[in-house]
Amino acid sequence: MTAEGKRFVVAALGICFLGSLVVVAWREAKTHHGPDEKPQAVVPADSKECVECHDKTSPAIVAQWRDSKHALRGIGCMTCHAAEPKDVDGFEHHGRRIAVIVSPLDCSKCHPTEFKQQAASRHAEAASFVGSADDFLGEVVEGGPTPTLGCKGCHGTTVKVLANGKLDPLTWPNGGMGRINPDGSKGSCAACHYRHDFSLAIARGPDACGKCHQGPDHPQLEVYESSKHGVRFRELHDQMNLTAQPWVVGRDYHAAPTCATCHMSATPTQPVSHDPGLRISWTLRPVVSVRQKDWQNRRDDMLDVCQQCHSEDWAKGYLNSFDSLVDHYNEKFAKPAQAVMDALYAAKKLTPTKFDEPLEFTFFELWHHAGRQARHGAAMMSPDFVQWHGMYEVAKNFYTQFVPQAEKLLPGVTQKPLAGAAHHWFTGK
Ligand code: HEC
Ligand code: HEC
Ligand code: HEC
Ligand code: HEC
Ligand code: HEC
Ligand code: HEC
Ligand code: HEC
Ligand code: HEC
Repeated sequence: MTAEGKRFVVAALGICFLGSLVVVAWREAKTHHGPDEKPQAVVPADSKECVECHDKTSPAIVAQWRDSKHALRGIGCMTCHAAEPKDVDGFEHHGRRIAVIVSPLDCSKCHPTEFKQQAASRHAEAASFVGSADDFLGEVVEGGPTPTLGCKGCHGTTVKVLANGKLDPLTWPNGGMGRINPDGSKGSCAACHYRHDFSLAIARGPDACGKCHQGPDHPQLEVYESSKHGVRFRELHDQMNLTAQPWVVGRDYHAAPTCATCHMSATPTQPVSHDPGLRISWTLRPVVSVRQKDWQNRRDDMLDVCQQCHSEDWAKGYLNSFDSLVDHYNEKFAKPAQAVMDALYAAKKLTPTKFDEPLEFTFFELWHHAGRQARHGAAMMSPDFVQWHGMYEVAKNFYTQFVPQAEKLLPGVTQKPLAGAAHHWFTGK
């Protein structure tokens, strides 16, 4: 080959090589997104009009939807909001039959596992509190719209459909945990998965749970925030990897545990569960705490979570002290106070009507407020809740209010319940 010819071949090969680079780069650009480029929402045909109009009337809803995994997967407005003929809450809306409520049953078409677990949890039963002392307090003693906006804002309403197909404003809007939906399903997935982005970060963080799990009678949020775990979550928030899928403690994040970490999320050996009650061994809600039936297995499942970050002795040691605080509270205060109340009702020194006598408020605050603060503080590592919000208030209430008020109604009624050695300092023995 002449020198001319060689130069030609090299040039031709060079052009081919450059050309192939261009093709590769072009294909790359077609299949990958640049770092600043957002993946595009896919608008299915039946939701085109919804998106176009709502982009003007309620742009935030459409923008949040565009941010969701649903939008990327072509799950549009109608996929969730279309009403089936049997849906009593369906109504005509710009030529289509839709419903506002997207119930757990609607989500279950694509998320059956989450639905089943949620339906089997106490969360699903959260609206079934009729007849409890708290219920009488909200409905009668306080009254008015308090229970709808208060209790049922957390627990859930029974949503009623009016004759004209509209939802009864006395029961709607509502995002309570055990909401009873017109299709008979219980709950609201949006209680934790805020619409319309259905962000995993919100569900995994403590604040979504804290909307309901806070306040004087179940201060889990405040307890968490004042624990070292909560401090780490706040300060190291950007290391939590909250949108990772999967999200296994110790593997995908290690900065801090959140409520979801301990109660719902995966460990290397436990899958995610939508029943947050599976890992708790007590129920700390009633006057006297009781162990759950298969409590040892539940405790082991919780310890498995702790052990991704702690040694076995550390975690067991802490939870054993928690158990002993619960036993102590039960024996020294809860059981004697309950015995006194029982004796006063039996002797007709208290009317059967709840909350019409000061002692009934005193007793309620003893177990329902201070008693739970101590127990929850101990369960979730907040010394201040165990001590100053908790046992200090329990002891002060018990010795300076509860006992004197009970003695006034029936002298001697506290004698037997206070016979134990733990009360000798008070009874002068
Ligand atoms: C031409 C405009 C337009 C179109 C098309 C449209 N909407 Fe609406 N939609 C509205 C407006 C305006 C409202 C608020 C009405 C109001 O304020 O009471 C609304 C309300 C709603 C509500 C809430 C109703 C309530 O009682 O709270 C839902 C859910 C809804 N639209 C979903 C959809 C879906 C799904 C589609 C597609 C089938 C759709 N919309 C199509 C304009 C539109
Ligand atoms: C993955 C399911 C899902 C998709 C997709 C979806 N929604 Fe919703 N939407 C919900 C849920 C859940 C609620 C809350 C109702 C409830 O509590 O059951 C809701 C409520 C609404 C409401 C009434 C509440 C409010 O804040 O005013 C409107 C309006 C609405 N959606 C419009 C839309 C529009 C428009 C689209 C499409 C851009 C859309 N939705 C897509 C699940 C969905
Ligand atoms: C038509 C099927 C369908 C329906 C109905 C549906 N989803 Fe989804 N959902 C999906 C798909 C597909 C994904 C994306 C899975 C993936 O990419 O990993 C998803 C993802 C999610 C995620 C994870 C989001 C993330 O950022 O990783 C949540 C949470 C979720 N859905 C909740 C709901 C809730 C709550 C409802 C009902 C209000 C609902 N979905 C209704 C199909 C559906
Ligand atoms: C801020 C949200 C919120 C409000 C408001 C609220 N609750 Fe609750 N309620 C909860 C949570 C969370 C629990 C579970 C606490 C726990 O497990 O420690 C609970 C527990 C209960 C229980 C105990 C359930 C059981 O299985 O033992 C009853 C009964 C109850 N609430 C009734 C009421 C009534 C009645 C009202 C109104 C007077 C009310 N609640 C107000 C969030 C709330
Ligand atoms: C008590 C709060 C809560 C409720 C109620 C709830 N979720 Fe979740 N959900 C979570 C948390 C927390 C995660 C993240 C779990 C993880 O990966 O750590 C999650 C994750 C998911 C995912 C992503 C897949 C996965 O398992 O990680 C889907 C899908 C989902 N939920 C659907 C639903 C549906 C459907 C409902 C209603 C039947 C529902 N959720 C109700 C808290 C909740
Ligand atoms: C480090 C792990 C951990 C974190 C983080 C955590 N919890 Fe707990 N939680 C526990 C333990 C341990 C118990 C008691 C378990 C038992 O009964 O054996 C408990 C008990 C509970 C109970 C049962 C109370 C009762 O009345 O029976 C609720 C409700 C609860 N936690 C909610 C939450 C919420 C909400 C958050 C976040 C604000 C949270 N937890 C954060 C470990 C944790
Ligand atoms: C919309 C309100 C609400 C939200 C949000 C909420 N809960 Fe609850 N939770 C409740 C109520 C009400 C109960 C008590 C139900 C009952 O016993 O009737 C409860 C009970 C529990 C229990 C005790 C379960 C049992 O079997 O005894 C745990 C644990 C718990 N919630 C954890 C969580 C966690 C973790 C989150 C967030 C990922 C969360 N909750 C979000 C309202 C809520
Ligand atoms: C994601 C990791 C992680 C998980 C899961 C976790 N912890 Fe921790 N925990 C930590 C870190 C980190 C600290 C702070 C250590 C320090 O003192 O510097 C801590 C601190 C503590 C403390 C010390 C509190 C104090 O005030 O000094 C106790 C007790 C504790 N954890 C118990 C538990 C128990 C019990 C569990 C399970 C129910 C658990 N932890 C789950 C990471 C975790």
